[in-house]
Amino acid sequence: MLKKALILFLSAFLLSETQVMAQAKVITIESQHNAIALQVRADKRIGMIYFGTKLANRDEYQKIPSARRQSDDYSGVLNSAYTPAGSRNLVEPAIEVTHADGNNSLDLQYVSDQTQQLGRNVSLTSIVLKDPVYAFQVTLFYKVYADDDVVEQWSVIKHNEKKNVTLQKFASANLYFSANSYWLKQYHGDWAREMQPQESELTAGIKVLDSKLGTRADLYQPPSFIVSFDQAATEDEGKVLLGSLEWSGNFKIDLEVDPLKNLRLIAGINPYASAYSLKPNEEFKTPAFVYTYSDHGKGDASRKLQRWARDFKIVDGNGPRLTILNNWESTYFDFNETKLAALIKDTKKLGTDVFLLDDGWFGNKYPRNNDNAGLGDWQENKAKLPSGIGYLVKEAQANGVKFGIWVEPEMVNPKSELYEKHPDWVIKQPNREEYYFRNQLVLDLSNPKVQDFVFGILDNLFTKNPQLGFVKWDCNSVIYNAYSAYEKNQSHLYIDYVKGLYNILDRLRAKYPKVPMMLCSGGGGRVDYGALKYFTEYWPSDDTDPLERIFIQWEYSFFFPAIASDNHVTDWSKAPIKFRTDVAMMGKLGFDMIVSKLNEKDLQFCQQAIQTYKGFSDVVWHGDQYRLLSPWKNDLASIQYLNLDKSKAIVFNYLISNRYDAGSKLPIQLKGLDANKNYLVKEVNLYPGTKSPIPNNAVFTGDFLMRVGINPVVNAGRASVILEVDEVR
Ligand code: DGJ
Repeated sequence: MLKKALILFLSAFLLSETQVMAQAKVITIESQHNAIALQVRADKRIGMIYFGTKLANRDEYQKIPSARRQSDDYSGVLNSAYTPAGSRNLVEPAIEVTHADGNNSLDLQYVSDQTQQLGRNVSLTSIVLKDPVYAFQVTLFYKVYADDDVVEQWSVIKHNEKKNVTLQKFASANLYFSANSYWLKQYHGDWAREMQPQESELTAGIKVLDSKLGTRADLYQPPSFIVSFDQAATEDEGKVLLGSLEWSGNFKIDLEVDPLKNLRLIAGINPYASAYSLKPNEEFKTPAFVYTYSDHGKGDASRKLQRWARDFKIVDGNGPRLTILNNWESTYFDFNETKLAALIKDTKKLGTDVFLLDDGWFGNKYPRNNDNAGLGDWQENKAKLPSGIGYLVKEAQANGVKFGIWVEPEMVNPKSELYEKHPDWVIKQPNREEYYFRNQLVLDLSNPKVQDFVFGILDNLFTKNPQLGFVKWDCNSVIYNAYSAYEKNQSHLYIDYVKGLYNILDRLRAKYPKVPMMLCSGGGGRVDYGALKYFTEYWPSDDTDPLERIFIQWEYSFFFPAIASDNHVTDWSKAPIKFRTDVAMMGKLGFDMIVSKLNEKDLQFCQQAIQTYKGFSDVVWHGDQYRLLSPWKNDLASIQYLNLDKSKAIVFNYLISNRYDAGSKLPIQLKGLDANKNYLVKEVNLYPGTKSPIPNNAVFTGDFLMRVGINPVVNAGRASVILEVDEVR
């Protein structure tokens, strides 16, 4: 009798405890417009029950059922906030481990959570999860940039088992979404064909975006993508998530439409050939997966990500930038001191801020006269530059411009003194034939001595030439035959390589915090926020044909701000100089051409264009971007930048089609203006001797420009048109 009463009492207690738990423990992570709700269930497992626009009443997250379209079989498994493998989960895991005793199971239960305010706009929520059987722990981190609706999510894994634990998979983030359908916009590409988009509905099963290239990891597929919910979002409509992994190496993103028709997203380092052996009490911190969400389409989402990148990620995102004259396409490896001194004078004549000396300035025993030799030997080539870099820096100073330099410090040509001296610093299989990408091999950055060497390349350049004003950091090969003479555990190489790279860049930025640096990887083979944290800008593609660049720059703009996009006017295409320049102006303008070969009018145009650009570049660099007309669907592409107080906009319009009668037939509606303000619209950057059909005294209200719009009169005779829209007070 007593026993029965006790059981009844206990079960009533347990039930009410369960109910209290089920009701009480919802962790809500909110930004300005959005929210994530995580539910800690009675069994202490934690699932994601809400992701989207935040609820008006914060208390109502409690009322959300534990998983929409719930089924008992799957409860608490499919929506796990960090899915462990080998216990009750049979779907794609976020984490998979082999414990010290060889057991492959993991269960993660909620222990605690806390939220710290890191600044007015930034908070950090951390949630500690532990295995009830093994001394194994994962902490999930959600760093929220409230104003921008951006979240960076990562995890920290550690254990206190008797011996090492092997991490087989170790994702940064595991998210769970509930919608009627899911649309993925993904990218693929290759050299000179970066950021080719494809958008399609996700079907049941797992879609994987990944890279196994080691370095230059996003040559074929970048770690940036867009998911739309219910239907493919447009610029201004639809629910959409923009995501990108902040990691410059192998990545893996799993998108799994599960048996309940919900979407599981798992993003992290690619576990491919990378089982990581973790010592007791050692911490494994995954890179951050950054994402933003909007229920107002891809345009709003990308403006949020761009703002966040300027405010919190790229170096000096709210500062100015330098316009460049580069010599890669104008000389390739064929230059000497006299030629370069003339190019420095041309830099001044043209009006750009920096002369950037590209590849080919180094190597003596094996001169760098083509891409076969010299990489690794970072001493000035005495035949080409008898007076050294110092002389060129001084020449630049004397001409009132800055001097910048190209390096590719992570790489080595087999034909080099470096390779002869330190074959053990090179990634290659000891017993296999060497295999090259662009005739070169990758240095083993997992080795601290190699890290010191790479740091020293830049440090020496800066120490000898304190006036050095710009660096282009290139990375042209992938990792073949992955093997390190330094690593004790070969499975650590891919990860330790990237950590080694970041270690070098951390040291460089500690010593040289503000020097402008361009992130280049044979074009855009390495455009990710893990690397961009150290750079002021990136090189989107070696393809500088303006028509191709419109598409490439357009697609990068979903994830990265215009201030970081290096766009150079070159002779790659025969398009008129105005078209080439106007296309380059939609980001950070630069040139790479033989200035002395420009005819008088083209030169005059370029000189004026640079001054015009300097007049409005603040809006392009720091303003909000609106994609008005897509090049994929129209005869023309149109893109607008608007400063933050809405007093000035710049609108770039480019003809895409060369079909008969292609052009702007209708007015283009601008976006984001203040409806009540009056704006003067005028065409700028005209080619000398041409007149605009757009009157330069036309004033319109913001309301008119956004509802009716303005026709930039783009046609075969006016293939690009830039409009400046200024508030009239
Ligand atoms: C690849 C880069 O993308 C080019 O701009 C140029 O710097 C070459 N490397 C130099 O080798």
